[in-house]
Amino acid sequence: MRLDRFLANLPCYNRQQVRLLLVQRRVRVDGEIVVDPLHEVREFSRVEVDEQLHQAGRPARYLMLHKPAGCVSATHDRQHRTVLELLPAELREDLHIAGRLDFNTTGLLILTNDGQWSRRLTQPSTKLPKVYQVQTEDEIGEHYPAKFREGFYFAFEDLTTLPAQLQILGTHQARLEIVEGRYHQVKRMFGHFQNKVIGLHRESMGSIVLDPALAPGEFRELTQQEIAAV
Ligand code: URA
Repeated sequence: MRLDRFLANLPCYNRQQVRLLLVQRRVRVDGEIVVDPLHEVREFSRVEVDEQLHQAGRPARYLMLHKPAGCVSATHDRQHRTVLELLPAELREDLHIAGRLDFNTTGLLILTNDGQWSRRLTQPSTKLPKVYQVQTEDEIGEHYPAKFREGFYFAFEDLTTLPAQLQILGTHQARLEIVEGRYHQVKRMFGHFQNKVIGLHRESMGSIVLDPALAPGEFRELTQQEIAAV
């Protein structure tokens, strides 16, 4: 059903009020603000006006997956296996990825159908620390950590990255904590030194840590405590 009809059918709004609610960006469908009166509302869409819930939608689901190398962080891909294909079919529907990883990056990937929650997890203003284990082709220099703290200028976005903590663990290995999630951010940071990242593994996002019991390709539901920590 069209969103404007759905809202006007509720006892609390007439058509004129519905138009106003949409223009004032007060209506959310599945966690996203919607202004289009023609937006399709389905049986399992979650519909909210301000803080008031008018249709509950599907129960919220939150999963952590140990992403293996060689699969795409996308819901559909013509060429490659996607992370969604690692889940049973009945769990896949309406899930999205909160913070993508590159094709060969491994580690913690979070999937949910709760748009508001995942936005808190990924939006730069939350400054949620993400921790990566990095392996490089060339030696990591003693001067690297200072540059990671200072920030890297990314011309495409016209910004300088926020201070990041680089801990050198070995000649070609480091632990990196960043609070953003820019496109290929870690590889671009090391790219500044012409040092190629040959292994990248995400250990944690905020207080959500990849469960060591999960082998690559395995997943589990997040606990109530993990969900509440975001
Ligand atoms: N930074 C990258 O360059 N790749 C990832 O997969 C994640 C962060």
